[in-house]
Amino acid sequence: MKKKDEYLTTAAKVKLANRRKLIVDFLKVYPGCFLVMGMLTLFAIFMTGDFMAAFTPERAAATTGVFVINEVLVGFLIMSAHFSAEDQRFPIRNMLLAFVMFALAFIACLTTSKFLSIFALPICFAALVLTELSNNRTSSMTALALAAMLLVAFIHGENYPDNMLPEVILSVVGNFTAALAVNMLVDKHLARLPFMFAAFGASALGMLVVLAGTLAIGDIGIDLLYNVLWSYGASVGAVFVFMPVVAILEGVFNIADDFRLNELTNLNQPLLKRLASEAPGTFNHSLVVGNLSEACAGAIGENPHMARAAAYYHDIGKLKAPVYFSENQSTYNPHDELIPEVSVSMITSHTVFGEILAKQYRLPPEIVAVCREHHGTSPVGYFYRKALNLKEEEGDLSVADYTYPGPKPQTKIAAIVMIADTVEAACRAYMPDTKEGFVERVNKLVDEKLQLGQFDECPITMHDLSVIKTTIIETLPQVQHGRVSYEKKKA
Ligand SMILES: [Fe+2]
Ligand SMILES: [Fe+2]
Repeated sequence: MKKKDEYLTTAAKVKLANRRKLIVDFLKVYPGCFLVMGMLTLFAIFMTGDFMAAFTPERAAATTGVFVINEVLVGFLIMSAHFSAEDQRFPIRNMLLAFVMFALAFIACLTTSKFLSIFALPICFAALVLTELSNNRTSSMTALALAAMLLVAFIHGENYPDNMLPEVILSVVGNFTAALAVNMLVDKHLARLPFMFAAFGASALGMLVVLAGTLAIGDIGIDLLYNVLWSYGASVGAVFVFMPVVAILEGVFNIADDFRLNELTNLNQPLLKRLASEAPGTFNHSLVVGNLSEACAGAIGENPHMARAAAYYHDIGKLKAPVYFSENQSTYNPHDELIPEVSVSMITSHTVFGEILAKQYRLPPEIVAVCREHHGTSPVGYFYRKALNLKEEEGDLSVADYTYPGPKPQTKIAAIVMIADTVEAACRAYMPDTKEGFVERVNKLVDEKLQLGQFDECPITMHDLSVIKTTIIETLPQVQHGRVSYEKKKA
């Protein structure tokens, strides 16, 4: 941190850090977008008019204007995508995704308008894909930038004489309306078929605008039918190419949308199969934590699919040495032969190794983060107490040497997995006999994490924690198999 920043308040420091991050991220992304936009502008000029004439001295000013407008609009687009990123840890991914989708839709709109009809503008192609892979705000900003640039391209293009201006404006406005309707009506958490029906319904709203607009400009002949059909056809076409484009972009940008999350929670996934065969105790534990996390996430308004997927993979780091973890032990416990310092490093390293393994298997970054954060900076109490019993003077031991390396959970989902993991592990080790005892134990476990400051870096609220406790108490299934009880062993 720079020296002059030391005198700022915390709020001012956060604001300054956010502004610096925006500038740095913008500078990383904008030069590439600037170059691509320059080429797209050339493409737009080529598609909408006489390419060579656009660069004559008479038209030079107009052409320069088109370039400048496009570059400025792209700057605004990627900046707004930075602000709109759902997970603020990965804004560059959102910026690049918005730009790539904008570019694809821009090319599609220019091509269909030249070869099919000026009314065939699949602006809602970008809106649909971004609603699924990003969020509504990014989606509407991209549709807006796209509409503005198409309007500029058509007005500049010589293929469209002045008397076609009403049609050009009507087409852009009508198809932009379809894109906005997609934003409002289509929910990214819908299943595939309802998603498609919602998209068809949203496209019909754009069609109505084109119908009304065509009547307003006095075209009541065969054009009325053609304009409406081309406009609706472009939107419907966008729905059909939506699936393959989403699948490709999901892979390229490593995005965890619902389709990908459903794939990742399939038990035939390579990492889950490895977990089931090499660390069956951890596998069963992860399935229970997945059920609990999904219920908790749904109860506090977070994405339940993300919670389940993150929970399934949270302990993959244990694959490095499964037998060192109590849920995978039957009779042999290697910790009996180790000093506590070694034991604790074997235990705590599973978060670091989990992160490495998750990256190797190219899991989405949200899940990679949960692998690393799900124990936060909690101490491994059992081995700390064991070390204390072995040492005569307590002063020799620092609890910091017996804690996980962190970081603390950065998101509500990571906090949920931490709680579900702790409660599941503790209740397998020792399940209270009575309901009251169980409720008391869940409350105590969550309160301990709170007092240790484990939720200090994520936006979870006291109300969320209360709902999570209640949800866990209601849904924690009965213990499925025995886990070595640290408490019992100690006694
Ligand atoms: Fe763990
Ligand atoms: Fe765990």
